[in-house]
Amino acid sequence: MTVWSDLDPESARRVKEQAWRDYAEYVNPMKVRTLKSAGLDIMEARREGAAVWDVTGRRYVDCITGAGSFNTGRRNPRIVEALKQALDELDIGVFLIASKAKADLAKRLAEITPGDLKWTMFGVGGGEANDYAIKLARGFTMKTEIISAVKSYHGHTGFSLSAIGREAYQKPFLPLMPGFRKVPFNDPQAIENAITDDTAAVLLEPVQGEGGINVPDDVYLPAVRDICDRHEVLLILDEIQTGLGRTGRLWCSEHYGVVPDIMTTAKSLGGSLYPIAATVFREGLGDFLIANPFIHLSTFGGSDLGAVVALAVIDYILENDLPAHAARMGERFRAGFDTLVDRYPAILREVRQKGLMMGLQYTDDSLGPRMSYQLAQHGVMAIFTGNDTSVMRLMPSLVIQPEEVDEVLNALDLAMAGIMRQEEK
Ligand SMILES: Cc1ncc(COP(=O)(O)O)c(C=O)c1O
Repeated sequence: MTVWSDLDPESARRVKEQAWRDYAEYVNPMKVRTLKSAGLDIMEARREGAAVWDVTGRRYVDCITGAGSFNTGRRNPRIVEALKQALDELDIGVFLIASKAKADLAKRLAEITPGDLKWTMFGVGGGEANDYAIKLARGFTMKTEIISAVKSYHGHTGFSLSAIGREAYQKPFLPLMPGFRKVPFNDPQAIENAITDDTAAVLLEPVQGEGGINVPDDVYLPAVRDICDRHEVLLILDEIQTGLGRTGRLWCSEHYGVVPDIMTTAKSLGGSLYPIAATVFREGLGDFLIANPFIHLSTFGGSDLGAVVALAVIDYILENDLPAHAARMGERFRAGFDTLVDRYPAILREVRQKGLMMGLQYTDDSLGPRMSYQLAQHGVMAIFTGNDTSVMRLMPSLVIQPEEVDEVLNALDLAMAGIMRQEEK
């Protein structure tokens, strides 16, 4: 293994160039071209807190964070230590049988998730967690239709791919799973109109991430909950990006006082160190699983190592009140964004934000990649959202400090000034 800190700068630069060449040759040359044109030909070496260092020694504040996978920071020492200790004794464990780590995590999730959410099925990643949520909804209700939102993102696995609201990801793979209907986000009436006698569930992100950081009206989710109750349709909330403190509450649904029937979490649950995902649901839905206890299996899902890491992540988030810190840092960002909107109206149209889930809507599509490039020149790693290139997603780690917030704001100011200069030429 290459230990970057052992290499002199010239050797590090050579190793990096070779790795990028190999990546182009053996992974995908177009990925390399796209990343380079967005200034993201970075090779992560040291990773710490809210920052990452390129192998050449250049530091970046990480505002990509695997789309919200590093809420507790890069290589958080407490979580690294928990994993190291676990490695002395454990491995993934046999997925079919119980373990203390798995049982402890399921119990902890029941304690910290909203309302009467109680039972857990573990998985590895977010797409799998949503697949299971959809399977559970269909299996429990014995109905088939799933309503999701235009511009939504739920992953690229089977059921999730069918649920997402962006055709570009789906078209080459048609036919998809049948029974999926898309309605505009933030429109409760559209959901009510789409419900039929065969509707099993409504699946939503509380705030759309890939769709462009779309924050719904405060009344939206409570209205959807009410509609689901009246029509006896299950509500699935995908908290894979929004959860674990990101929006200023532990779960985004808490802002709206809404308890879903099924909730999914992944990404930051693994502390940026070990993949794990969870589909948590009301005990009442368990009837289906009592009849079919082994209906869904995942070899690596809820591995013992992943469970130990997730328990350490949860402890860290709660003991350090990261949701409250995220809310405070979000306010600091907001004050800076307001200045930028005034200063650069030709570039920045709108700010979308819930805590540290932040999106900058630019005035045209081409500005997403151009701003990524400019920001990288000023020490910030950031990228536009998957379903809307005119929106730059800023999702730093929740351990970000005030001076790092100011660093990002300053980089945004310099980047926008750079774009203005280019426009003037
Ligand atoms: C809201 C949401 N759901 C699901 C997923 C899929 O997660 P994974 O990539 O771990 O399958 C993502 C990933 O970005 C996501 O943002």
